[in-house]
Amino acid sequence: MRFGAPADSVELQRMTWPEPAPGQVLIRVHAAGAGYPDAMMAAGHFPLMGDPPFGLGEEAAGEVVAVPSGSRFSVGDQVTGITGFLDGWGGYAEYTYLREESTIRIPAGMTTEQAGGFPIAFRTAYAGLVDRAPIEAGEVLLVLGAAGSSGGAALQLGKALGATVIAVAGSQEKLDFCKRHGADHVLNHRSGDLPARVADITGGRGADVVFDPVGGETAAAALAAIARNGRVVLIGVASGKPVPLDSMDMLLRNYSAVGVLATPGSPAAEAVVWQRLADLADRGALSTPVGRVYDFREVPEMISRQTAPAPGKTVVRITSE
Ligand SMILES: NC(=O)c1ccc[n+]([C@@H]2O[C@H](COP(=O)([O-])OP(=O)(O)OC[C@H]3O[C@@H](n4cnc5c(N)ncnc54)[C@H](OP(=O)(O)O)[C@@H]3O)[C@@H](O)[C@H]2O)c1
Repeated sequence: MRFGAPADSVELQRMTWPEPAPGQVLIRVHAAGAGYPDAMMAAGHFPLMGDPPFGLGEEAAGEVVAVPSGSRFSVGDQVTGITGFLDGWGGYAEYTYLREESTIRIPAGMTTEQAGGFPIAFRTAYAGLVDRAPIEAGEVLLVLGAAGSSGGAALQLGKALGATVIAVAGSQEKLDFCKRHGADHVLNHRSGDLPARVADITGGRGADVVFDPVGGETAAAALAAIARNGRVVLIGVASGKPVPLDSMDMLLRNYSAVGVLATPGSPAAEAVVWQRLADLADRGALSTPVGRVYDFREVPEMISRQTAPAPGKTVVRITSE
């Protein structure tokens, strides 16, 4: 892998995978979740990545094939988790390493594709809505990019936490998708009247929390719709531009901005987070909204489509069980 257009820069390589070190779990990959970060990484715009070559794919589900001594997992376990992509080990591969602290056994009833697309989006939504906002039951949550990966997860987690969710997306197909996945209200950001529509829905109060993986003009319109004591949760820049924050506006209208990077806390704290996410999935409150499923050989095409993604979570099918 090197930086550039995915069709030219992504290539298959023969690899060997050494025995996993403490903190790693080696799996045979069945499915791997995808998203806008793949496009950023391939183009060389992802802030946390070093120089290529590296393996792409932030998350994966599959069967454990090797563990270090003392691991919580055993060979044969079916698991899903966050890959060692920051160290070059991505999920679009026959085998990969998962970070043990960010790995769970696949909850009952979750399909392989849902499992492959679960960890990043829901861990990110949790970091934003529980660790950083935090949102309270009864508050109004405005989710941007709500038919996308992290937005779709925030929509579901927001509902599970007792919020009223207003989902924002850019087409009727995506708005229908958001309704099917539990949104109380849906708004098209292309309609140009987002603040007025949010004011109508909230009786003039505005949204308590804005979950923003998009940035740019859509986020600017959402800030105009934020309530007193509101919080804008800064997740990402799928529009290519960050949200335009104005400190005087924040002061005069009494709201805050919180940055979010969904990185693990202490192993004990991380275990609590993943157990809570697994419990919510077990209860059916969280379920990866799988969108388009690609074949392993279609990874370059899949990455090139992440700048105009279809609704739902994109997943790559790697090997059959
Ligand atoms: N902070 C963290 O820890 C963390 C974790 C995961 C991801 N992220 C970041 O969050 C951002 C979104 O990632 P994601 O995986 O949720 O993305 P995604 O699934 O592709 O969703 C992004 C949404 O943004 C909207 N959008 C508006 N302009 C766009 C454009 N020019 N290109 C693509 N989408 C555009 C699209 O919705 P409409 O078509 O409805 O407008 C799309 O559904 C990225 O910047 C990523 O790096 C951050």
